[in-house]
Amino acid sequence: SRVIKLAVIPGDGIGPEVIAEAEKVLEVATADSSIRFDKTRFSLGAARFLETGDTLTDDDLTSIGAHDAILLGAVGGVPGDGRLKNANIERGLLLRLRFALDHYVNLRPSKLYPGVPGPLAQPGDIDFVVVREGTEGPYVGNGGSIRTGTAHEVANETSVNTAYGIERVVRYAFDLAERRNKKLTLVHKTNVLVHAGGMWQRIVNTVAAEHPDVVVDYLHVDAATIFLVTNPGRFDVIVTDNLFGDILTDLAGAVTGGIGLAASGNINPDGAFPSMFEPVHGSAPDIAGQQKADPTAAILSTALLLDHLGLADEAQRVTRAVEEDIAARDGGSRATAQIGDAISARLQA
Ligand code: NAD
Ligand code: IPM
Ligand code: MN
Repeated sequence: SRVIKLAVIPGDGIGPEVIAEAEKVLEVATADSSIRFDKTRFSLGAARFLETGDTLTDDDLTSIGAHDAILLGAVGGVPGDGRLKNANIERGLLLRLRFALDHYVNLRPSKLYPGVPGPLAQPGDIDFVVVREGTEGPYVGNGGSIRTGTAHEVANETSVNTAYGIERVVRYAFDLAERRNKKLTLVHKTNVLVHAGGMWQRIVNTVAAEHPDVVVDYLHVDAATIFLVTNPGRFDVIVTDNLFGDILTDLAGAVTGGIGLAASGNINPDGAFPSMFEPVHGSAPDIAGQQKADPTAAILSTALLLDHLGLADEAQRVTRAVEEDIAARDGGSRATAQIGDAISARLQA
C-alpha cells in the first residue's frame, strides 16, 4: 500500500469548516484503494498568532516541508483587526509557504459546470486554466517606505521578474496547453510595464517556437477583464504574473458561479517540495462558524491534489461527484457538512 504524508492546515474562519468536508471526501475517494493518508495537522493562522504570537516558525516550515502534499483551508483574520496589524498572516504564513516551497505554478482552473447559476446572461462554454506565477512579481516584498506616516512619505513595492522564473512557468503553461485545447494567452501590461512585460513577451515568443501547434495570443490585463466577462469561452490557458493572476482568478471565480467553487494548486512541478492545495477564497469572517460556506472549492482542490499525486482516476471521480452535486442543486441552502456528505455519498454510490 502507498502511504501519502499529508500536512493539513485548516486555518481560520471557514477554513476548518471546508477542510473537514475536503478530508471526508479524500477518505471516501481513496477508501477502495491501497492508498492511505498519514496526516499531520498544523494549527496556523490568525487564531494561532493571537494565542502564541507565532505566524510560521522555522520548525513548522521544516516539518510541513517533509510531507508529500499540503491541504490548506484559508488563513487570515477579520480585515482591519488591529491586533493582527503586526502579524501579516498573509505574508508571514501563506506567501512564506509558497515562496519557501518554490510553488512557482499557481494553478487555478475555471470551469462553468452545467446547472451553475452565474452572473453572465450568455456565458457560453467556460473552461480555462490560469497559470499564475507564484514566487515573483510584486509579491516578493521587495520595497519599503521612508518618512512613513508623513506628508512626504515614499512607499515602493518593487516587482521582481527573473528570466529563470518566467521561463519555467511559461514552459509549464505551454505543456498544459499541449494537453488541453492548444491555445495560450499571455496576459500582462506591456504597454506600461515595458521592462517586465517585454521580458514576459520575449520568453513566451521563444518558447512558442518550440510549440508550433499551440496558438498564442496576448492581452493587456485591462482588456483581459473585458473578455473574461464578454467572451470567457475564448480562453484555454492563460499565463500571467503573480498579481494579475490574483485579480483575474477572483473574476474567473465569479463568472463561473462564485468563489465557493474555485479551487487552486500551488505547485512545485519539480517535486523538490510538497505542493499545496487550497480554495481560492479566504477565511470569510462574515460567514465563519455558521456552516454557511460552500466546501466545493476545497473539495475540488483535493481533486487537484489527487491528480498531482498521480491518482488521476480518484481525482476524476471526485470531480464527477462534484459535477453531479452541482447539477442537482435547486437553489435551496445546505449546510457546509450537508454538501460534503452529499458529495461523499455520490462517490460511494
Ligand atoms: P474572502 O474570500 O474570505 O471573502 C469574500 C466574500 O466571499 C465574502 O462575502 C465571503 O463570505 C464569500 N465567500 C468566500 N468563500 C466562500 C465560500 N466557500 N462559500 C460561500 N461564500 C464564500 O475574502 P476577504 O473577505 O477579502 O478576506 C478575508 C480574509 O481571508 C482576509 O484576512 C484575507 O487576507 C484572507 N484571505 C486568505 C486567503 C488564503 O488563505 N488563501 C485567500 C484570500 C483571502
Ligand atoms: C489568494 C489570496 C492571497 C494572494 C493573499 C491572501 C496573500 O488572495 O490566494 O488569491 O494574493 O495570493
Ligand atoms: Mn486572491
